[in-house]
Amino acid sequence: MARQQSRYVCQSCGAAHLRWEGQCRTCGSWNTLVETVVREPDARRRVGPHAATADRSDAPQSLGGLREAELVRIPTGIGEIDRVLGGGLVPGSVVLLGGEPGIGKSTLLLQAAAGLAAGTASGGSAAGAGAGGNVLYATGEESAGQVRLRASRLGLLEGVPADRISVVAASEVGRIVELAREARPIALVVDSIQTVTVDDLEGPAGSVGQVRECALRLMEMAKGNGIAVIIVGHVTKDGTLAGPKTLEHLVDAVLNLEGERTATLRLLRATKNRFGSTEEVGVFEMAEHGLAEVADPGRAFLATTDEHAPGSVAGATLEGSRPLLVEVQALVAPGGYGSPRRTASGLDANRMALLVAVLGRRAGIGLGSHDVYANLAGGLELDDPGLDLPLCLALASSLRDRPVPRDLVAIGEVGLLGELRPVPGIERRLREAARLGFRRAVVPVSRRGDLPGVSGIEVIAAPNLRTAITAAVGAAHGPAGEADRTTGAPAEEMPAGPVAENGPSSQSPARRGRGAP
Ligand code: TYD
Ligand code: MG
Repeated sequence: MARQQSRYVCQSCGAAHLRWEGQCRTCGSWNTLVETVVREPDARRRVGPHAATADRSDAPQSLGGLREAELVRIPTGIGEIDRVLGGGLVPGSVVLLGGEPGIGKSTLLLQAAAGLAAGTASGGSAAGAGAGGNVLYATGEESAGQVRLRASRLGLLEGVPADRISVVAASEVGRIVELAREARPIALVVDSIQTVTVDDLEGPAGSVGQVRECALRLMEMAKGNGIAVIIVGHVTKDGTLAGPKTLEHLVDAVLNLEGERTATLRLLRATKNRFGSTEEVGVFEMAEHGLAEVADPGRAFLATTDEHAPGSVAGATLEGSRPLLVEVQALVAPGGYGSPRRTASGLDANRMALLVAVLGRRAGIGLGSHDVYANLAGGLELDDPGLDLPLCLALASSLRDRPVPRDLVAIGEVGLLGELRPVPGIERRLREAARLGFRRAVVPVSRRGDLPGVSGIEVIAAPNLRTAITAAVGAAHGPAGEADRTTGAPAEEMPAGPVAENGPSSQSPARRGRGAP
């Protein structure tokens, strides 16, 4: 095939240049030129994301009269992946799997390839058992021998799947596409987009132009042949490696594998899914034989130690539609000279600094001269505002050196005035907490003023941080659970006395006992 022409196209104004330059001569923007293959007009039209699934006719039709697109799904054999994909891989779809280098993308995909080849539906999968088929695994990162080594480590070499997986160490997309067209696998894995190139472009592998052109060609192949393509893309923590980011609008689904490389738990999240919801997350654990599905994800991120020291509070977060209980840990220590340290891992450090200020001004928890450290157990990284309250309680607990009861869970966003604000899905979070054995929950007062009724858990609705701290840690000078009557808190902040079972108090905070409607 004759080499196609390429131009350097400005991403800001669209002007095409023959050579790369740092600044676009037309609009003056810097670093906006991206090498692009000059396409024939009709070739360009074919590469739409819906080319395979949409109705081809140009004439508008009434919505009611349209035929629904039929979605066949191929189960990957790994329930958590199928769950995130919405039931399995859709033939002809393109999935981008992003994640930091070394997080486990290749491992997960090799396991998925074996599942696709074997064709057994996993227990959790909604899709029926498939017949299985061939899978082509193109790797530009490792040699074929290294893939084989990994497969044997994962225990994938026995039985049928190994014969049905072909591995090719190729980095030219034209060659990979050719191989896929010949072999007609049900799925093609390209590991990774940063290591493949097209011959028509001069830029190095991983440059924006290369990444985009490679993805376009793979997409064309996927749509034209009904082969599902999974593309691996490395993303660094700060997202500076823009390569895969530029693909997100092209592909059908974007999955992200997240977690701390040094920890064992991994979250698989869909940030985009044309064939399912983005509400689902999959939870995995990196074990000796690859990534294993976690049996009870709700409790996976709770610390398992028996040690119950001050500074630890359970929070309930929502990952999509899945409630997860997480342990928020805080350590407050007298600071040395200079400005005090504020370190957060898994939580937003700026958010923590703000909460430290609110605690000092609105709740009498002065941390101004203390070093403050906070951490989410299990290497999880979350930006759920519902974790504000557990973090504040953990900080208060650490400062006062008084533990928070182990069966207590806290949920709520904290405002600048020290008020607690409701977060979405409180009842779902509470139900999961109750299921996992939590017996008390501190939550914000709802906008309607009623309390979520969840059986098995006593709900304490607190209007503000001060009340919540008293309920969880105790008053400034007294044992945990006792009313803070000595600090002269305003009447509406006055908390109720010790919890009486099924005895809702007329005072604030409102309480609802077990099993109340
Ligand atoms: P890998 O899948 O190569 O990451 P990526 O493709 O995202 O760059 O994962 C490599 C890491 O996984 C490596 O640190 C070792 C670890 N690992 C296990 O702990 N157990 C296993 O069975 C395998 C295959 C890898
Ligand atoms: Mg890899």
